Amino acid sequence: MARIVGGLTTSHVPSIGGAIAKGETQSPYWKPFFDAFQPVHAWLDKVQPDVAIVIYNDHGLNFFLDKMPTFSIGVADRYENADEGWGIPVLPPFDGDAKFSWHLTESLVEDEFDMTMCQEMLVDHAFTLPLKLMYPNAGARWPVRAIPVTINSVQHPLPTAARCWKLGQALGKAIASYPNNAKVVVLGTGGLSHQLDGERAGFINKEFDLLCMDRIVNDPEALTRYSNRQIVELAGSQGVELMTWIAMRGAMGGQVNTIASHYHAPVSNTGGAVMLLEPVLVSASMAAE
Ligand code: DHB
Ligand code: FE
Repeated sequence: MARIVGGLTTSHVPSIGGAIAKGETQSPYWKPFFDAFQPVHAWLDKVQPDVAIVIYNDHGLNFFLDKMPTFSIGVADRYENADEGWGIPVLPPFDGDAKFSWHLTESLVEDEFDMTMCQEMLVDHAFTLPLKLMYPNAGARWPVRAIPVTINSVQHPLPTAARCWKLGQALGKAIASYPNNAKVVVLGTGGLSHQLDGERAGFINKEFDLLCMDRIVNDPEALTRYSNRQIVELAGSQGVELMTWIAMRGAMGGQVNTIASHYHAPVSNTGGAVMLLEPVLVSASMAAE
């Protein structure tokens, strides 16, 4: 059966793509953020996941305000990136895994998550940049197959944190019932606290970010008790991207070990956080190898 070997969360600001393109990853501004990926690279080298399921929020590239699914999943064998207007390079296309995606979709719909199924899907910075951070040396071909899963974090009403947690749990069950041996890494991209416009533009809440990072590991269900209004108040209007982290953690379930955890602010307008978690059972089997 397919199994989750790790969970990765990271901020996804477009300027990451600019820093890479301009060769600025070791500048004083960017170094702390990019260096946080060194343990992630070592882990990827060792574990070699086959599939990355990327839980993120589309920002208007594939879906726009006229049609905004609450939850969607890509069911294609290939996903293209495109220019979103940020002035950053368009990244090479990603191989999907349509067969796995259809299995996940069937299981999720059976479990009452009525996913929008996308046989064509453009993937935006929230999908591409975390994969580029994981695989900075990837050329024209990425070393994992990638499956997009989106949570609406743009057009209110948004799904609740509790609902996103349950989506993650259903996704974890769907992965575990897929009859092949794929090693799966689940990503939650976005956050942490940020607000890009309005009176509180530039708002970052380090204290709340650090609390979220602790709870994601030790008591993730505590995060599901916040209402969306509370999350917006505490983390800013775009801080609701935290939902992707909550869904990732729901998919992992159980107890996790922290392989990497790093916080640095600001990264562009965000509290920039990177975490790599491993299911306790996977850690134990690695130690035995
Ligand atoms: C920024 C953050 C985001 O999450 C995003 O999608 C776009 C921009 C920023 O901080 O610049
Ligand atoms: Fe974003």
